[in-house]
Amino acid sequence: MSVTLETRYLEGFVRSHELGALQTQVNAAHEMLHAGTGLGSDFLGWLTLPTDYNKEEFARIQAAAERIRRDTDILIVIGIGGSYLGARAAIEFLKSPNYNAKKKDTPDIYFAGNSISAAALSELLELCEGRRVSVNVISKSGTTTEPAIAFRVFRDYLERTVGHEEAKKRIYATTDRARGTLKAFADREGYETFVVPDDVGGRYSVLTAVGLLPIAAAGCDITALMEGAAEAQKALNDPSLDSNDCYRYAAARNVLLRKGRAVELMVSYEPCCTMMGEWWKQLYGESEGKDGKGLFPASVTFSTDLHSLGQFVQDGSNILFETVLQFDRNPGELIIQEDAENVDGLNFLAGRSMSEINRKAFEGTVLAHSDGGTPSLVLRVPAADERSLGYLIYFFEKACAVSGYLLGVNPFDQPGVESYKRNMFALLGKPGYEGEKAVLEKRLGL
Ligand code: PA5
Repeated sequence: MSVTLETRYLEGFVRSHELGALQTQVNAAHEMLHAGTGLGSDFLGWLTLPTDYNKEEFARIQAAAERIRRDTDILIVIGIGGSYLGARAAIEFLKSPNYNAKKKDTPDIYFAGNSISAAALSELLELCEGRRVSVNVISKSGTTTEPAIAFRVFRDYLERTVGHEEAKKRIYATTDRARGTLKAFADREGYETFVVPDDVGGRYSVLTAVGLLPIAAAGCDITALMEGAAEAQKALNDPSLDSNDCYRYAAARNVLLRKGRAVELMVSYEPCCTMMGEWWKQLYGESEGKDGKGLFPASVTFSTDLHSLGQFVQDGSNILFETVLQFDRNPGELIIQEDAENVDGLNFLAGRSMSEINRKAFEGTVLAHSDGGTPSLVLRVPAADERSLGYLIYFFEKACAVSGYLLGVNPFDQPGVESYKRNMFALLGKPGYEGEKAVLEKRLGL
């Protein structure tokens, strides 16, 4: 059971010796990662998390998820960036993008606090009317504005509808072990709390309580998820590019970037992977995009987006390469039936499975894009199940860290994210930002 990389569609774009030429740099990146001597080495907790996770807390997560499944109709997961994308991606990958609409014995799960949209938050409040609601508020720093606003709104909602004491039992807080206003508030109120480890950054935190509690509440097997990740931890430990597909992926994308392919398009032919694309974009975008460097990560779902972006990928400027996720075992199956009249002319497909047709769409597309000047990497994933997902998450995290080191950046910080926050706080008149307010207002013509 593993995720494997196929590089055959790089032919004509990258020669095999070009990948091999990166072996020395990959060895150095591997060494920095495992010896903790590289940039950002305070944030390497994710590297051994699949085996070293806190077992006592893991049992509490499972117990809390069980309680939520029993006493909750709607779980509101409040968080932004790394504090929500992993859980949402995992639930859609393992259950469905239509999870909430399906018949099930687990709660609906909605995500809040990932924007500042009044419309989105008001709509969620409406959906909660008359239903049993629990809240999982997630913020490592405990100070992020978007989730803090949503939490204030939902705390007030719960306290009004079920009372202060019952609200305390329905709020679960995932945050720093000791720091931040959320931790202090949770302790004061007596919420059950879970920890984002100090040495695990937000976008690397899906295999901590950040992701695990919502994923378990959706009825997914988080033990199998961790086992899949542990398998990857063990398998992806050899620096050799000949045997380590995770490092080969990092090396290939680095070579492609050097050849002017500054955009990596994550492609899937299954809508259950759409949110995985969002999670992956944050992981790579925040880890690599700094110091004037990095690949721009974008994502699409085919064949849907072949009817929108397909034209550009086929025929537009040669700035892209694709990384295509393909399943060995298809997530679902449907056979096309014979139609006596054949008015739609589709009888040539009768008796054939949609998975086969989808596969032909992939094969036809990858060749067409190659002809049009866009190379592809293919990542083969065994199945849309917990073990495969655990493996895939670890694969992407480790490849991301090595990619960052190959670029010479710190893959674990995000200094650029602060700039918009400073401006927003200044414009809103937050105490401490008075100096900047007038300057910004003048630039805006206010
Ligand atoms: O990767 C990161 O660190 C960020 O994307 C954070 O996850 C995001 O900004 C949310 O931060 P916090 O969990 O502190 O609210």
